[in-house]
Amino acid sequence: MPDAAHILEKFAQPVPRYTSYPTAPHFKADTGPALMQQLLAGLDDETPVSVYAHIPFCDKLCWFCGCHTKHTTKHDPITSYIGSLEQEIALLAERTDAAAPMGQLHLGGGSPSLLTPEDCQRLRIALEGTFVFTPDSEISVEIDPSDVTPGTLKAMKIIGLTRASIGVQDFDETVQRAINRPQSFELTREVAAALREAGIHSLNIDALYGLPLQTRDRLARTIDKVISISPDRVALFGYAHVPWMKKHQQMIREDDLPGALERFEQAELAARMLEDAGYLKIGIDHFARPDDKLAIAARTGHLRRNFQGYVTDQCSTLIGLGASSIGRFDGGYIQNIVPTGQYQTAVANGLLPAAKGFAMSRDDEIRGWMIERLMCDFKLTFQTLEDRFGATATPYVAEALRVAACEGDGLCEANGEEFFIPEDARPFARIVAARFDAYLNDSGARYSRAV
Ligand SMILES: C[S@@+](CC[C@H](N)C(=O)[O-])C[C@H]1O[C@@H](n2cnc3c(N)ncnc32)[C@H](O)[C@@H]1O
Ligand code: SF4
Repeated sequence: MPDAAHILEKFAQPVPRYTSYPTAPHFKADTGPALMQQLLAGLDDETPVSVYAHIPFCDKLCWFCGCHTKHTTKHDPITSYIGSLEQEIALLAERTDAAAPMGQLHLGGGSPSLLTPEDCQRLRIALEGTFVFTPDSEISVEIDPSDVTPGTLKAMKIIGLTRASIGVQDFDETVQRAINRPQSFELTREVAAALREAGIHSLNIDALYGLPLQTRDRLARTIDKVISISPDRVALFGYAHVPWMKKHQQMIREDDLPGALERFEQAELAARMLEDAGYLKIGIDHFARPDDKLAIAARTGHLRRNFQGYVTDQCSTLIGLGASSIGRFDGGYIQNIVPTGQYQTAVANGLLPAAKGFAMSRDDEIRGWMIERLMCDFKLTFQTLEDRFGATATPYVAEALRVAACEGDGLCEANGEEFFIPEDARPFARIVAARFDAYLNDSGARYSRAV
């Protein structure tokens, strides 16, 4: 069994979370519009595509937040932004004749729970003008419980919500004060019940470990409360402290942050509690009830990882809408302009807001596939690699065997059939995935802790 304290010290160097490969800091300027054109040319009326729409507004700013968002107490900026999303969708529609079926639509943020019924009506109509919603389309929204009013539930019904993701982070008041996020358990429980009453039977809860002043006791009490709400899924993320990128995280006292080993112990404790309550661990940081689609995808080798974390989405094309959104297709990635105002100006001027992109080489495709499988399944089957990439896979099998042969800390092993991360080493999957990352040391990009 790997020695956690030794590994955390030896691999203190932060590594990516691998929600894409290559990771976003490697995307190149000025390639976005051409890649978007390529993505649109690949659409047809039969193949479902997924859509991510980013809503970069919140009515309060939590100090821990790593998302691209902006504080607003007025609704006007959101109304104006919905107009920009309509313009962006129209710009895409002008460039394709296809009416692609909607696979999964995800509204993320920021806080899409601030949208009104009118906002959702406009967004739904705009999307229906370009994509075809079917009974199989899944629609999920990130919900901050403190935003929720009867109007929110109506808005969610209009957008067609099928799965809600509720932000909790931690219920302990001391931790909440240290991250500027007051949120009672009672309110959260009521919002979950209201969503269920409104017919939404698939609920996810986001919780965090590694927060300032968080202890194992405090986290355990939070996880007990999370379990009592009985969500179908739980995402248990490690707090990513990146104050050089997110200035408001400077409000968090670094002295209050748990150290690497304490973070590890917190993650292990929360995982044990969730597993004892009947959840299955999915990938490095998700949990799901055994009958949930995410657990089924993990069991059957269909789990995927994208910018939203672990997903069941099987669509090879993801279109990103809104400021900072990232889209993906077989040929690469596209990222929209990040500053919200600049994004809005671009679409108002009739320009595709795709600012950056990355065209994948064969090497990127193979390494991306290997990293995604390691992050999802904790193993790479050589036969599957060869079935997928043919003779070009041979050097990568040899590379995996070399990586395993050089491993001295028990983080990975190989036999004639597969390269794998043993069960005890799974919390360190990001460190193993990084061994196959050809870009890791040449970007100057800074990441968060590996665990
Ligand atoms: C867009 S945010 C949340 C949606 C909604 N605004 C809310 O706060 O409930 C999605 C999730 O990202 C996670 N998150 C945000 N900042 C993070 C950070 N610095 N490190 C790790 N996870 C983070 C949180 O768990 C959060 O619930
Ligand atoms: S955690 Fe949610 S509510 Fe808080 S600032 Fe981030 S996106 Fe907004």
